[in-house]
Parts: sequence; structure tokens; C-alpha cells
Amino acid sequence: MDLDDLDPKRMPRHVACVMDGNGRWAKKRGLPRTEGHRAGEEALFETAKAAVELGIEWLTVYAFSTENWRRPHDEVRFLINVIADDLLTRRRDQLHELGVRIRFAGRRDWRVPKWVLRRMDETAQLTRHNKATTVTVAFNYGGRAEIVDAVRGLVAEGARPDQVDERALRRHMYLPDMPDPDLFIRTSGEYRISNFLLWEIAYSELVFLDVLWPDFRGEHLREAVREYQRRERRFGLTGEQHGEALPG
Ligand code: IPE
Ligand code: IPE
Ligand code: MG
Repeated sequence: MDLDDLDPKRMPRHVACVMDGNGRWAKKRGLPRTEGHRAGEEALFETAKAAVELGIEWLTVYAFSTENWRRPHDEVRFLINVIADDLLTRRRDQLHELGVRIRFAGRRDWRVPKWVLRRMDETAQLTRHNKATTVTVAFNYGGRAEIVDAVRGLVAEGARPDQVDERALRRHMYLPDMPDPDLFIRTSGEYRISNFLLWEIAYSELVFLDVLWPDFRGEHLREAVREYQRRERRFGLTGEQHGEALPG
């Protein structure tokens, strides 16, 4: 995929995505919600491929939230199977061939079946040296849970109050080496964060698209990046200061 109208010097380094709208996609077609999740897995694969082609270094996707356990039991089971069987078995080798490094973020608690954890570990292990895009699958992930877990880590370390700062907290996040997302995308026309990466998106550009996740393809990723490149990121500075700070 060539970059066409995108500015190669201003590509987001890290794109985070809330993959929403699977259920509505299925309903529109008179299909069970589970078919939406199946189609969503395909969309994720295509998006990972597009991220590699666009040279995006980090792609983080919200696959299953700490709140999603409250869905009907059968849907939860299906979702876990789609992730563990389709994504982590069938697709794993394809992603590996594309040079994708796959990682996971979330709580490894009793609710996640052992065999799923094992498969996640195997996948991470297999792809750990890959140099193209790092795809992080947020599974049993909650932004508040992550912050709580980081605080627990600090407390367990015996940190004194004056040792608690942003850098110390960051060291205890699930993936401390991951840069903050530059671009945050949510599909399906909903305008909310739903507990995704609360700490990390403090300065991300937010882009909301109307497309339902199973229809998401490389062209939608490009559309979001195009919108991102139209924004001016100021990080607290004035527009003038920011203009001066820009190279060139
Ligand atoms: C996103 O699609 C998938 C997950 C939350 C796991 P939804 O299943 O939330 O689809 P809608 O929002 O009901 O359409
Ligand atoms: C967010 O979508 C979670 C994932 C995409 C995994 P939801 O569909 O669960 O979010 P809400 O419930 O509409 O806020
Ligand atoms: Mg939803």
C-alpha cells in the first residue's frame, strides 16, 4: 500500500482502536451476534496487515474488556474462542509471516481459561523477535484495572509516597515499553472510551468513525490517519509556540 496523500513524516507511531459494532453489523444482516465477532476477527487481520503496510509501529486493539464478562455466557465463550482459536491459531502464522509481533495486555485472572493464557504465551513467544508492527491485543483489559494494578505493584515494591510519580507508575503498567497512542480510533459511531487505555490516551488524538468494526479495512485506517494529520497537537503549548517547535 503506498502512502498516496498521507505524509510519511507525520505517521502516528502508535494507533489504538476500540473495535466496536460487531453485534449491530450482524443484526443488520439478520445474523446472530456471534457472526459479527467472526467477521470482526477478519477485520482485525486486515487492519494488522494495513498497519504493517503503512509502517505503523504499534497497533493496540480492544478485544475484550473487563466489563464484557457481563454479556450472556454463550457470547463470552464464543468471543474467547474466536480470539484463542481463530486469531491465535489460524491467523497466528500468517501474522508471524508478516513480521507482526503479537502481545497481550490485561488481567491474567481466574476468569481467563488456562488454555487461553497458554496460547497467548505461545503466540507472544513465537513472534517476540518480529520487527514489523507490534499488535497488542487488549484482553480482559480495563483502564482502571491497569492503573489499580500499577499502584499495587508500587505498593508491593514498598515505594514511599515521594517515590510515587508518573514515571514510577508507568513502570508498573502492563507494557511499560509501549509508547502512548498518538491516534485513538473508535468505530461504530459511539463517542466513548469504555475504559480503554485511560492512562495512556491522555494526549492522544481521538477519531470516531461511523463504520461498524467488521467492515473496517485498510482504507478506514488511512482515513483516520488522514484526519490525524490534519490535527495540531499542542501538548499544552499555544498554537504559536507549537508552530515554532515544529521542525522545518
Ligand atoms: C465489539 O462489538 C466486540 C466486543 C465488545 C468484544 P460489540 O459486540 O460491542 O457490538 P455492538 O456494539 O453490540 O454492535
Ligand atoms: C468496548 O466495546 C469493548 C471492546 C470493543 C472490546 P463495548 O461494546 O463493550 O462498549 P460499551 O459497552 O458500548 O461502552
Ligand atoms: Mg459494543
